[in-house]
Amino acid sequence: MAYKVTLVPGDGIGPEVTQAARTVLDATGIAIDWEVKPAGGDQIERCGSPLPEETLAAIKESGLALKGPITTPVGRGFRSVNVALRKSLDLFANFRPAKTIPGVPTRFDNVNLIIVRENTEGLYSGLEHEVIPGVIESQRIITRHASERILRFAFEAARKHGRQRVTAVHKANILKLSDGLFLEVAEGISKEFPDIEYDTAIIDATAMRLVMNPEDYDVLVMENLLGDIISDLASGLVGGLGMTPSANIGTHCAVFEAVHGSAPDIAGKGLANPRALILSGGLMLRHLGENQAADKVRDSVIHVMKEGKHRTRDLGGNAGTEEYVEAILNHLNSLVTPS
Ligand code: NAI
Ligand code: MG
Repeated sequence: MAYKVTLVPGDGIGPEVTQAARTVLDATGIAIDWEVKPAGGDQIERCGSPLPEETLAAIKESGLALKGPITTPVGRGFRSVNVALRKSLDLFANFRPAKTIPGVPTRFDNVNLIIVRENTEGLYSGLEHEVIPGVIESQRIITRHASERILRFAFEAARKHGRQRVTAVHKANILKLSDGLFLEVAEGISKEFPDIEYDTAIIDATAMRLVMNPEDYDVLVMENLLGDIISDLASGLVGGLGMTPSANIGTHCAVFEAVHGSAPDIAGKGLANPRALILSGGLMLRHLGENQAADKVRDSVIHVMKEGKHRTRDLGGNAGTEEYVEAILNHLNSLVTPS
């Protein structure tokens, strides 16, 4: 039976990179029934919102979406579609693996981290106000409920991906109540997973150790803002945002997307590098338990990277999107599926 997946092309380079990812995923032999749904600024005139109800309903029904980037106006206009999606679908976990890809020049050869970021609370609760002129208060919300589900998610992810250890990252030496609660919950949840090691680490020391000895860590789980920063840091360790796929996961739905934006400067020119979205598609296959197909996608990306003949412009080459996808498909089709 085919998996039903909602494809949201988005805008800018979105249609180009989502088409590329779709072609590559289809070539793995996994049957996917794609349902294309719109989102973005151009939808406002049509239906009054950048995130049409039909798109939201389709994702709720399929439970899975592969999404291209969407342009968000800065300081005015509509609210980010990404934030709206996270809230409406309660996508509470942001899952970002950061693994060294051979052929990509980086400072370390052996980074293999998973960053799990809480996606719904912390300083992103939007509770900010001016107490008196010149004094602003922002509230950082940490709840037992959100802490429990993100920590359980991290331990389950560790198990699923064959990892040894989960580290809860915090600042409980200063934020004694909020991060204290997070750690108390972590301690309790860790007891449910006796097969996974558990430890804790303070955020500032973790940041230093990550850039000196990234191999010291395995799965790292933390609240929203810390996770926002550390997940970008981890991307930097393996070659930048263009290398790292990401997944936003909730109880009923999961949305897979690249971390980069809509790149309006190169949109429609056939120059976009679709690799990050292709890898996000690979994550989706892994999420579905289709590990062989996911390996094929990853191996093909690594092969083309190592070979170095088909690099897109952002990586100093002159291949266009189509040529790059062609190279990926050539390798993918040469891989024999073990029986
Ligand atoms: P951006 O990531 O779109 O572009 C930054 C630079 O990287 C540009 O020079 C662009 O050409 C290049 N670039 C990005 N992705 C590329 C790719 N796949 N291949 C080749 N080159 C690539 O970031 P920027 O310019 O800050 O944002 C543009 C728009 O995208 C904004 O409206 C922003 O709000 C939106 N955005 C949307 C996201 C999403 O929907 N998930 C995430 C980040 C930004
Ligand atoms: Mg960020």
